[in-house]
Amino acid sequence: MNRRYRKTIIAGNWKMNKTATETKKFAEELKTMLPKAKWCDVVVCVPFVNIPAAIRAFKDMRVAIGAEDLFYEKSGAYTGEVSADMLKDLGVKYVIIGHSERRQYFGETDVTVNKKVLAALEVGLHPIICVGETLEQREMGITMELIALQTKAAFAGVPAEKARKCVIAYEPVWAIGTGKTATAEQANEVCNAIRATIRHLYGARVARSVTIQYGGSMNPANAAELLAQPDVDGGLIGGAALVPEKFTAIINAANQE
Ligand code: PGA
Repeated sequence: MNRRYRKTIIAGNWKMNKTATETKKFAEELKTMLPKAKWCDVVVCVPFVNIPAAIRAFKDMRVAIGAEDLFYEKSGAYTGEVSADMLKDLGVKYVIIGHSERRQYFGETDVTVNKKVLAALEVGLHPIICVGETLEQREMGITMELIALQTKAAFAGVPAEKARKCVIAYEPVWAIGTGKTATAEQANEVCNAIRATIRHLYGARVARSVTIQYGGSMNPANAAELLAQPDVDGGLIGGAALVPEKFTAIINAANQE
């Protein structure tokens, strides 16, 4: 973390979990636990259908609501899809784009990720752009090249003043939902390389101000060590974000002065 230059953001990614009723219950429980200290921003990204319930339930809390995806077209004949305007109109602030599960199961590519980033920025949503290598790619020794490529592709056509509004999440695919966390050094090494790519694209000032999260089996036991790394500015948390006690413990780890 480096709060002097950029925000620390702890974001939950609920994936396909919880009903609207369970969303309300989670918010009520979290409310009793959230720390007073405000050193980090808290975001909860929920399934589309839970967004209205989440907006209502988290209204009086310092928690911003995010979506888990969007479609890049403005409107039209795209059955089943949800646009950036629809999210914005509901009061959504963040949107996860290019999560590895979307890349793996739903045909997301670097090209569609880029289109979605542009669509989100156009209406003022903050994209949380996910990048990360598979185990096979890590073992082949191409992690850094691949991450640089994914990052450059995601930012194609994004001007500097909008790049500052983006969050990047480094999520090694082999660490997601597996209980296998990257070591703090591995996480920092890649987050640092992502910042170098942003510096190359936009210069030092933008690179310094962009929040870069780590995601992949982050939990109360490993959060403090990961967040202590200079280039790890928060977390994108799946499993542990579904349990108010665990999510709060990670927020507390990010709230250390
Ligand atoms: P996990 O998921 O924390 O359950 O590993 C992280 C993510 O996929 O964003």
